[in-house]
Amino acid sequence: MIIKKATYGNFRNLRDVTVNFSDGVNVLWGMNAQGKSNVLEGLYYFARGRSFRGVKDRDLVTFGEAAARCEIEFIRGEGAAVRLGAAIPASGKKKLYRNGAPLKGSAEMLGNFKAVLFCPAHLSLVSGGPAERRQYLDIAIAQNSAAYIYYLSNYRRFLAERNALLKRCAAGVSVSREEWETYAEQLSVAASEIYSFRDEYCRAVSDDVAAYFREMTGGRETPLLSYTSQMDGFVTDEGDHPEVKAETKEGLYLKLTSNIEREVAAGSTLWGPHKDDVHITLNGNEAKFFASQGQQRSLALSMKLAEGEFSRRMSGEYPVFLLDDVFSELDDSRRRFIMESLKGRQIIVTSCEPSVVPGGDFGNIAYFRVAGGEVGGPDGEM
Ligand SMILES: Nc1ncnc2c1ncn2[C@@H]1O[C@H](COP(=O)(O)OP(=O)(O)O)[C@@H](O)[C@H]1O
Ligand SMILES: [Mg+2]
Repeated sequence: MIIKKATYGNFRNLRDVTVNFSDGVNVLWGMNAQGKSNVLEGLYYFARGRSFRGVKDRDLVTFGEAAARCEIEFIRGEGAAVRLGAAIPASGKKKLYRNGAPLKGSAEMLGNFKAVLFCPAHLSLVSGGPAERRQYLDIAIAQNSAAYIYYLSNYRRFLAERNALLKRCAAGVSVSREEWETYAEQLSVAASEIYSFRDEYCRAVSDDVAAYFREMTGGRETPLLSYTSQMDGFVTDEGDHPEVKAETKEGLYLKLTSNIEREVAAGSTLWGPHKDDVHITLNGNEAKFFASQGQQRSLALSMKLAEGEFSRRMSGEYPVFLLDDVFSELDDSRRRFIMESLKGRQIIVTSCEPSVVPGGDFGNIAYFRVAGGEVGGPDGEM
């Protein structure tokens, strides 16, 4: 997948910007607070359906303006160019387009443009909390499976409704047995699907993570990734067998129908994939507690690189790699490793210093100077 062009109108501080990307390495450089991350935020919006900075859509609109727009043009394989567009009003509903035709919503847009984002927060993917690792799984899988998006959004909706119901129940509202059973049924169906997607993802990328990690560190230590869930306990046999979905569904249904008093007291749903995690070990020891900070960072980078391999296996080609300010956080050998690993793929890097991108033959390289919401270039040399 190659992104050819992006245009921005009243998108944060990008008032009227067009960027024509190189199919190799693109370096967006300039001082702080000039708009470099905003450029990536616009691109990744189409891969994720929302901002990667966890803000609301309306925050993307230039202060005081009525609406932001952003459009990208990319090619997949040998295919014709595809255009995705977003018109984001300061108040009201966004509109999304594919080749000019309106889309129903983000779910319909996802899976068209694929990108892997690296930002400094990802360096704590191993040392941080389980929510970060669940988000890593969800983003990687959602870009490659419409079914996953469907089940995950169902799950989130039913979970929020059930949590609200638990709180109302604590406040004295009476809830019928049938109502709890309906929620248990809907949640356990979605949960069993989420469980098998996430489990499959971890199995699929574990070897890639290990290969990247060993190469990056030149060491003999071997990482292993596995999905860890309360629902593991509902599965009778190790591994991947046809009954897993039925067993996880049944097990969760039982939990959600037989502990309601406890859950009312807690005010939230105590079982389900919103509690799950990725278990990461290094030579058998839990990386979160035993790996050095450097090893944890190398593992996190390996997980992001493996996300790209997963996407390639699912769709036949590599996604676009977006690196927001990560090179300044890494030593030269890791920077070089990432550049070598991503050789031949399209990458877009932001940095204060153009020189953080190591020299070498990494394909066509284009530099764009970003200042005050304007993007110059491309220039072939710095
Ligand atoms: N909604 C907005 N309207 C106008 N400017 C914005 C908006 N949101 C952020 N900005 C501006 O964007 C700049 C930050 O851009 P960013 O891309 O994060 O910088 P960097 O080049 O450091 O990556 C700041 O000057 C900020 O004031
Ligand atoms: Mg930035």
